Amino acid sequence: MRMYDLIYTKKLGGALSPDQIAFWVKGAADGSIPDEQSASLLMAICWRGMTTEETLALTLAMRDSGKRMNLSSVPGTKVDKHSTGGVGDKTTLILGPIVAACGVPCPMFSGRGLGHTGGTVDKFAAIPGLKVELTDAEFIRSLAETGFANSAPTGDIAPADKKLYALRDVTATVESIPLITASIMSKKLAGGADALVLDVKCGPTAFMKTLEDAQILAQSMVDVGSAHGMQIRALITRMDAPLGWAIGNALEVMESVEILRGEHGDSELAQMSFRLAAEMLIMGGAAKTLIEAQALVEACIQDGSALETLRRFTALNGGDAKALDDFGRLPQAGQTVDILSDRAGHLSAMDGRALGLLAMDLGAGRKDRNDVLDLGVGIRVHGRVGQRIAAGDRLFTIHAKAGARIDPAPYLATLQITETRPLATPWLLATIGC
Ligand code: URA
Repeated sequence: MRMYDLIYTKKLGGALSPDQIAFWVKGAADGSIPDEQSASLLMAICWRGMTTEETLALTLAMRDSGKRMNLSSVPGTKVDKHSTGGVGDKTTLILGPIVAACGVPCPMFSGRGLGHTGGTVDKFAAIPGLKVELTDAEFIRSLAETGFANSAPTGDIAPADKKLYALRDVTATVESIPLITASIMSKKLAGGADALVLDVKCGPTAFMKTLEDAQILAQSMVDVGSAHGMQIRALITRMDAPLGWAIGNALEVMESVEILRGEHGDSELAQMSFRLAAEMLIMGGAAKTLIEAQALVEACIQDGSALETLRRFTALNGGDAKALDDFGRLPQAGQTVDILSDRAGHLSAMDGRALGLLAMDLGAGRKDRNDVLDLGVGIRVHGRVGQRIAAGDRLFTIHAKAGARIDPAPYLATLQITETRPLATPWLLATIGC
């Protein structure tokens, strides 16, 4: 088989066979196919797309490029969640303990952040001592003993994805629905869960800018998961303003704990986390209907068992569980600076991507894969879209390194303040799958 022929076929819009796809993925991962040929094929896929059969074959070949977790020693239907990424998205920290507290095992491999979105692993790393790279045995022990396990993926889960993602990153080929599908689903299938809830973000600050594209991506992932015997369902959710009040790692731990304590229950972040958790409980067999599942979620917040599960997960994996009750033990910023509104009106839009980039500049996120984060810095967002504000109202509190100069202008530029109240838009745009 010659890589040249694969590139030529795809350049003309033809379909590749499963054998051809397996040949490419194996060669890309072991280095026998040069990067320039893989990069050419990636670009051809970006332009010409892939059939459902090709996407399935690509996902399988990438899954089988490394090890597959065997979670069969833990009883029950194991349910995972994946979000395509948003600014301030800390739903994993909230729903993982909720789902586990309701008796459904929740195994999750999460990523580190790059660019304007933070990574779940970085948020967990803000809990002092918490081990965020677990061995297989530690991962399974955490799942068995606390019902929840979260770890950065080890290098041997879908290593072909690592190689191909790095090439996509430098060849402007990240935004391709079959490539995104295979990248995400190969890791999820290798992770060993039986069921998966997807949170596909849609909006100006997400990968998928339109509802139509988000629906195509969601359907593509649902098709691949179902074809491999996974129970799978996708929620398409709006992504424009940051999710919740916190952007930045330790701040996001604080907000997650507050929600697990029963605070901010009417916020979009809480509502979204509770709904995703409820979907997971249905898939895990703990509830039959959404109403039943939502009642279980509510009960484990009210009786404190969800927060207690997070404490037990933290302690078991070497973390300081007292920091969840005493936020002074979490990493702190050197200084805080308030940013006040320079005018009155309705807060009608907030640019989450721009705020994510500002948080990255403060040190909360990575510009480059090797950057070391400052886990204490970030942004507290005081206003909510739709709210009426007066001149002089506090809009943001910036948690910055000591001595850093904070210019309010780029923060104020992330907001649209208008005379008229904006139309309220729902956070849940569509659902797809079983
Ligand atoms: N997240 C992934 O893991 N892969 C993609 O291709 C896009 C988002």
